[in-house]
Parts: sequence; structure tokens; C-alpha cells
Amino acid sequence: MSNTQDRVPLKARKVSFSWDDTPLHWVPGDPFTTHTINVLHLLLPAGERWFVHVYKQVLPYIRDERLREDVVGFIGQEAMHSQAHDEVLPHLREQGLDPTPYTAQVDWFFEKLLGDRTLPPGRARRWWLMERVALIAAIEHYTAFLGDWVLNAEELDRRGADPTMLDLLRWHGAEEVEHRSVAFDLFQHVDGGYRRRVRTWATAFTAIVFLWQRGARFFMENDPTLIDGKASFKDFYVAGRRGTLPATGDMLKSIPRYLSRGYHPSQEGCTEQAVAYLASSPAALAAEKGVA
Ligand SMILES: [Fe+2]
Ligand SMILES: [Fe+2]
Repeated sequence: MSNTQDRVPLKARKVSFSWDDTPLHWVPGDPFTTHTINVLHLLLPAGERWFVHVYKQVLPYIRDERLREDVVGFIGQEAMHSQAHDEVLPHLREQGLDPTPYTAQVDWFFEKLLGDRTLPPGRARRWWLMERVALIAAIEHYTAFLGDWVLNAEELDRRGADPTMLDLLRWHGAEEVEHRSVAFDLFQHVDGGYRRRVRTWATAFTAIVFLWQRGARFFMENDPTLIDGKASFKDFYVAGRRGTLPATGDMLKSIPRYLSRGYHPSQEGCTEQAVAYLASSPAALAAEKGVA
């Protein structure tokens, strides 16, 4: 059953952003924070396209009309997120950072490793679909965590982070908080096995940490303005203490919450805050006017 508490109808907002005035280091004087967050622009286009691809296959298994509506709304929002992050890439290229060597690996990961395999119709094909639905639920635990974090990351404002980039991150983060229950409700509806939840969490967490640190290192090493740019766990820990990135302790504490048998995403984040941000986001407001 879809969660009734905090439920808001999900709609895709057709946002667009102009990157002309966004500097390379959009958190001033802090290339490490900038590039660690920039990894999102590399992971999300392929990752969220993959969500949409998997969810289109799971629609016939949904026997709850409200959940189906939520899943259709989720698909619309994720498709828009994927596109919005993809549109940052030409701007990075113009600034001398061509992410193609890294995005080629990410594309392979989502399209080949996690793609449709040549499986006969029946149990094996269903098993692989359910495994991917569970993986998406685990990943969405982290997108909601990050969404909640960025909505509250006042240190980025204090340090003069670029307002357009902040709006992209907070529009996306707010929609992640808004739809945070959908992937978990869908997993519970079509499968819900606890062992599968634990197994796919471990896979998702390992993949996120692996891809993210690789992406941050890629950006730091290829940033044309840095000599011998590096990214380390220590840098991440320090930025977390400062409040320009999520705190390591908060990330660790979110693990047992997802693995608790009583977990539900509605216990995380704040729908009111997300909805309030979306009502004031420059990009979301412009999208609303464009539609009207
Ligand atoms: Fe998203
Ligand atoms: Fe999401």
C-alpha cells in the first residue's frame, strides 16, 4: 500500500537553468566541495534514466491505483532530474572539464551491468526485475537523505555558493524528499523481502561510495586550474564537519535506520519543508509560469 501520511500528488516541473554565470568553482575557493557535489551531474543522468527504464517494466505488477499514480509521478520527476543534470555537462566542458571518460563508465554500469539481461520470461526475469526494484529503494534512501541535507545546508549559502546551482540542487532535493516513500512502497508492494532489502542495500551502498569517490578524484585530477588536485576521505570528513558536505556520522547513522524492520521513508526528511522550497524555487516558479 502506498503511504497515506505526507502524501502529495507528484508532478514533474519542467525546469530549466542558465549556466552562463556559474563559475567553475561554484562554492567559492572550495574546489573539493564543488567537485564532490558535481559528481551528481555525472551519476544522475544515467542513474535516473535507469530508474525510469526499470519502473516502466514494473508497472504491470502494481495492483494498487494510488501507488501506480505515485510511480507514474515518480517516473516523470526522475526523467526531469536526469535531463536537468545532463544539461550541466556542456557547461563543464566549456570550462575545460570533459567528463566523458567517467560518464562512459557510469553508462556501462547502469545500461550493461544493471540493464536488462537476456533472460527467459518467467522466474529468472522476475527475480532480476525485483532485485533492481529493491536496489532503487535503497538508492532512494540516499537521494532522500541528500535532498534533506541540501535543503538545510545553510553553510553553502554562507560561503556564497552559486544561486543557480543551489536552486538546481534544492529543487531536485525537494522533489526527492517529496517522493521519498514511492520506491520503498513499490518494493514492499511487489516483493518486500527483508533479506533482499539488506542484500541490495549492501550493493547500492558499495556502488555509491565506489562511484562517488572515483568521480570526485576524476574531477580533482582533471580540473584545469588545479595542480596535482586530489580528493581524499579526510577532505570529505572535514567538509562534513564544516557543513559544506554531509557529515560522515550522519551518513553512518542512516544505515541502521534503513535496515531496521520498522523503517519507512516517511520517518525521514520533512515534506512541508520540501513543498515550501518548491513553492519558492526560482526554477520551479518559472516552470509553473511557463505551463500557465
Ligand atoms: Fe531524482
Ligand atoms: Fe528520487
